[in-house]
Amino acid sequence: MNAEVFLLAAKEIEGLNHPTDTIVPVWDLLVRIFHWSLVLFFFLAYFLDDDLIVIHSYAGYGVFLLLLFRLLWGFIGTVHAQFADFIPSPFVLRNYLRDLVRGYPERYLGHNPAGAAMIILLATSLLVTTLSGICLFALEGSGPLSETSVAHWPGGLLENIHNLFADLTLMMVVLHVGGVFLSSFMHRENLIKAMISGKKKRS
Ligand code: HEM
Repeated sequence: MNAEVFLLAAKEIEGLNHPTDTIVPVWDLLVRIFHWSLVLFFFLAYFLDDDLIVIHSYAGYGVFLLLLFRLLWGFIGTVHAQFADFIPSPFVLRNYLRDLVRGYPERYLGHNPAGAAMIILLATSLLVTTLSGICLFALEGSGPLSETSVAHWPGGLLENIHNLFADLTLMMVVLHVGGVFLSSFMHRENLIKAMISGKKKRS
């Protein structure tokens, strides 16, 4: 193989031969199903708390199971689903936020560092909310922890934690959706459409 053919082959492997408007897969089907199911279950659980406690608790379990799946998928999933692809170092996050304030943030094919940081906070807050909900259920003698010592934990404290983190999550969701719109506007791309189709322009 001569040098020119070798270079062309190498560029093909790197994807450099594609024009910049090439559409490429970014979010796999499971990430997309995860995301939109999470949205549905979160809002069901949040807005049907006292009125329809059965739906509230099933939606909460749904959120919890989705989070467990996403935790696993973050290690074994496709490229942009992996934590290694998007969890930012404090240095990268700081530089990204600085560039964002200056009005020229770098464009990322996967999650940008600020979006990724918010997603991690969101998921952690959801985990605390669902776990405290499962503990609260145990106090009432139901759920997977009802036969454990959790059933004797202080109910008032658990309820405060559950409500606080549910509200914190809602605030983060507002910031998350705001960030999605801001990023879509700055890079002239539709991130919501990308989370539906799974595809984005390469650059
Ligand atoms: C209905 C309003 C929502 C819209 C339009 C929306 C949109 C999006 C978009 C476009 C992304 C990809 C961001 C990127 O390109 O980097 C994303 C990611 C994500 N969103 Fe939302 N979102 C919404 C609500 C929510 C809610 C309610 C939650 C959680 C309670 C949530 C949790 C997440 C998570 C965890 C990810 C990361 C997905 C992954 O990597 O698996 N979103 N969202």
